[in-house]
Amino acid sequence: MAPPIVDAVYLKEIEKARRDLRALIFKEKCAPIMLRLAWHDAGTYDAKTKTGGPNGSIRFMKELNHTANKGLKIAVDFCETVKARHPKITYADLYQLAGVVAVEITGGPSIDFVPGRKDANAAVEEGRLPDAHQGASHLRDVFCRMGLTDKDIVALSGGHTLGRAHKDRSDFEGPWTKDFLKFDNSYFVELLKNNSRSGEQLLKLPTDKALVTDSQFSQYVKAYAKDEDMFFEDYAASHKKLSELGFTKPSTVLDGRGSAWTNGIVVAAIIAVVGILCYKRGMLPEGNAFFPNLF
Ligand code: HEM
Repeated sequence: MAPPIVDAVYLKEIEKARRDLRALIFKEKCAPIMLRLAWHDAGTYDAKTKTGGPNGSIRFMKELNHTANKGLKIAVDFCETVKARHPKITYADLYQLAGVVAVEITGGPSIDFVPGRKDANAAVEEGRLPDAHQGASHLRDVFCRMGLTDKDIVALSGGHTLGRAHKDRSDFEGPWTKDFLKFDNSYFVELLKNNSRSGEQLLKLPTDKALVTDSQFSQYVKAYAKDEDMFFEDYAASHKKLSELGFTKPSTVLDGRGSAWTNGIVVAAIIAVVGILCYKRGMLPEGNAFFPNLF
């Protein structure tokens, strides 16, 4: 499908959808599953073939039925209520916006959001998302395929500060942190604790444990457990990268002052062209007062 035209009208819809998502996520307490939806739509990216990625393909039942996506229909349906109110917005933008809002509304860092993603018109094949039963080399295989680094892997795994596993969806059970609706650095603090000694029953997937046992990963785990500001800064940067895999910012994107600025340039260019034409045809008086330095 063609990318959306990101003009002032589109940007206004994005801001309205952002407000609707805030209200929805607050009311339904669904920040964790909205973040997981954004990650699972984006995390299929293959940098070599430039396929998959944040393109809304997870809305197709074929992809939603992949084992890794069990339970995510709930989030797709929540997003559908926002899509109905803002049909101009692509699914790809909507799911990534939902992920950004989910992090912000639970106390996490602000994440820069650039709209303009185009929707895919088919599902991606199964098997691109990570398998929680595996270890460090598998994590590297999957995230390097996306074009992401060790630091991205650890920072993004901090998304498990939110939410919990459900036996009927993944065969794992329980939250990673004590307050699973608060975005903070407690995932890393808990990872470094020996739960079996303290008797706490917080979840650690095999892939979570690999972040502590692998020496390259564990340097980041220790740093983030100690310094929440550092985690927030790195998380926001890695989340933005994830949400923009394979995405080229459309040239039509305008910033806050964009339209006035662009209009000014266009008007100046027209005046200059008209002036040159008039001058060439001898229509301007000598010592022209409009363009004293030009002619
Ligand atoms: C590093 C590889 C990862 C693996 C193997 C993995 C695996 C899992 C599994 C097995 C669940 C439980 C699903 C359920 O039973 O409902 C889960 C939940 C979750 N994951 Fe991950 N994940 C990974 C990375 C990420 C990333 C990068 C993010 C976000 C940036 C993320 C965000 C979440 C969230 C928020 C939940 C909770 C969903 C809920 O409460 O409904 N995960 N993940």
